[in-house]
Amino acid sequence: MSETTLYNYEKLANFITNLIDDGVYVKGARIPSLRQICKQHKLSLSTAMQAYHLLEDKGILESRVKSGFYVANRPSNTLATPTTKSTNNQATLVNNSDIFLEMLEHSSNLDFAPLGCAIPSADIMAAGKLNKAIARAARVNGAQHNIYTVPKGDLGLRKQIARQSLKWGQNISPEDIVITCGCTEALSVALKTITKIGDTIAVECPTYFGQLQLLKALGLKVLEIPTDAHNGIDTAALETALNSKKISACLFSSSINNPLGMTMSDAKKLQILALLNQYDVPLIEDDIMGDLYFGETRPKPFIAFENSDNVIYCSSFSKTIAPGYRIGWIVTKQHMPQIMDNKLATSLSSPTLTQVAMADYLSSSGYENQLRRIRRIFANNVDRMTRAIEQYFPAGTRVSRPSGGFLLWLELPYQIDGKALFKQALDKGICFAPGTVFSPNPEVDNRFANCMRLSCGHEWNEQIDKAIQTLGKMAADAKNP
Ligand SMILES: Cc1ncc(COP(=O)(O)O)c(C=O)c1O
Repeated sequence: MSETTLYNYEKLANFITNLIDDGVYVKGARIPSLRQICKQHKLSLSTAMQAYHLLEDKGILESRVKSGFYVANRPSNTLATPTTKSTNNQATLVNNSDIFLEMLEHSSNLDFAPLGCAIPSADIMAAGKLNKAIARAARVNGAQHNIYTVPKGDLGLRKQIARQSLKWGQNISPEDIVITCGCTEALSVALKTITKIGDTIAVECPTYFGQLQLLKALGLKVLEIPTDAHNGIDTAALETALNSKKISACLFSSSINNPLGMTMSDAKKLQILALLNQYDVPLIEDDIMGDLYFGETRPKPFIAFENSDNVIYCSSFSKTIAPGYRIGWIVTKQHMPQIMDNKLATSLSSPTLTQVAMADYLSSSGYENQLRRIRRIFANNVDRMTRAIEQYFPAGTRVSRPSGGFLLWLELPYQIDGKALFKQALDKGICFAPGTVFSPNPEVDNRFANCMRLSCGHEWNEQIDKAIQTLGKMAADAKNP
């Protein structure tokens, strides 16, 4: 229903809900009295009372005798969390569909509701300040930035990236950093460095489909390790796999994994490192979401712990500043010579001008302000999307509780085929990521057939609200045809 067709009390209720969603009134805060709100909005007392009672019924406000109305301490989500899937301890080649490409194509079509790819909206990224930085870089020393950088990448940028590690209490040297074309090239170079065709790589289950795509292209086999939406990797299952000597390397998220949004505790990370050291198996960690935490402190990546010499760290600014700049990086000491061989063979060096502009941008306080802003937007989007799912999706739907980032993982009632829903949704101008793309071989092992990942990377608007409503209805119809 559009805002113009609403009754006045509904408009007022929406206005107050928006203020709460935007953080103007936090949980437990007292909201304006009925008398004040009537005066501010030129409404009758009965209209205001109707609005407040509606919000009370929805659990958004609570009234306290002789005191007024307060923002309720409601649990933001009453839905159960997704179940942990068991795996068969069998390595498999990746045989996934071309849905990945289809999703990427729709991600640049502005007519589609943007729930598919994990790409934050361009409005949320740091375009304004970066535009100035790149114009400055071209103006001041353009000719110099028209030639290759040193092979590891622009030193100014590597120093700025090294500075980021102070946030988790480490002091990485710029000499241990290599700039890459996004996190994708970082992962690709790391994999080429420590594996050969036919090797088996242990991954989380479900796994980000871009990683599966890479493993497929490199002719590597995948062994999925059961991964819980709260606690992360099943270390007993990992030990069993390591013990059977099947694994050449592990490829795990550092924090806020894609798609579950889960962050493992420090204790769990230490346990995993101890196991990998015991079996002398290297770890490639993907920390692309690490700066998007919702909690108080930045989660530590694996390289921040002792005994992490055999870890290759990969990340990029694609989820925080500018995916289009294609700036990622690798951190390693032990594997640096082979990493450099592979980086040179893959792309010689990354573009210079964008590196210089990014270094300039990072040298201001802009990045920390940007992170604070987008973390708040993403947390709000995740909260709103979760409530919309609660409202519109059929009973039995389960949803993740991400520890950061902007992705929600849904497990729908078993009768619902996510892939059929995907095709149906495309016809209605809605794109999402069906669960099957997070499996290496869905033809054989379709454990995520009734799952989907929704992106909350765009500020909430009517198009998104409508898209969730439509998806929920389609899911309900598929459950009870
Ligand atoms: C977990 C993860 N790793 C890597 C990437 C790819 O990053 P980039 O765009 O920097 O290559 C993505 C993009 O969605 C991702 O979600």
